[in-house]
Amino acid sequence: MRVQIVDDLNNGRGLKAPESQNLRGVVDFDYGKHSLVIPLVRMVTVRLLDPHDAERFKALRLLAVDNSPTSIWPTRQEEMARSIEEIAARIRPTTTQAVFGAFDGGALVGITGVRREPLCQVNHKATIWGVFVSPSYRGRGIAQTLLSAATVHASNEWETIQLMLCVNAENLPAKRLYASHGFQTFGLEPRAMKVGDRFYDEEHMCKQLV
Ligand SMILES: CC(C)(COP(=O)(O)OP(=O)(O)OC[C@H]1O[C@@H](n2cnc3c(N)ncnc32)[C@H](O)[C@@H]1OP(=O)(O)O)[C@@H](O)C(=O)NCCC(=O)NCCS
Repeated sequence: MRVQIVDDLNNGRGLKAPESQNLRGVVDFDYGKHSLVIPLVRMVTVRLLDPHDAERFKALRLLAVDNSPTSIWPTRQEEMARSIEEIAARIRPTTTQAVFGAFDGGALVGITGVRREPLCQVNHKATIWGVFVSPSYRGRGIAQTLLSAATVHASNEWETIQLMLCVNAENLPAKRLYASHGFQTFGLEPRAMKVGDRFYDEEHMCKQLV
């Protein structure tokens, strides 16, 4: 008999029903004549972060700046310098800010922030920031779900009608993610970021919600 144990994290898409299932971590035992597939289901859930998540948020941000220095702005030193109190204030949900986290059990594995403009003449807009998914959790729809959560929040809670973001022009996975969400590029900022000795351009993207 052949036994497969399938680790399926894609059910954690959360807001939307999964369109497909990504099957990961297949364990395959061959016992001879027959085959048996046992799905080992581990849900990834998405929720709004609050100040109690500050330590976990800081740890994932440090992973993000180490893993993706050309996608995430602060350096490790700058991120390290933020106190837990500052971080708690940064992720506390308010009328102008919200941060969503993806959890595998108690482990924070993905984050996406959204910040609404505070002033009257521009508060129909909000900006997506800090999109990051831990490397071993990528390609399972987690960023899609985080982006959906931030979009629904900006639309329903704040009546935002337009989302903005910036992305390194060379970051193809992120650009595909945003394009699949309906973001369109409207400008290119040359030399927007400098990492080491190298400059990177950034694309400015926008999505109209109504
Ligand atoms: C970009 C990132 C957030 C995507 O996270 P993810 O959870 O793997 O993304 P998803 O599984 O939700 O995939 C969403 C879409 O992104 C695109 N995508 C994801 N990984 C990709 C890859 N390796 N290559 C090309 N496109 C990719 C695809 O269009 C995918 O849609 P599909 O599943 O319909 O094909 C993740 O790779 C990451 O954290 N990268 C480093 C940080 C970063 O670049 N952040 C963006 C800052 S602007």
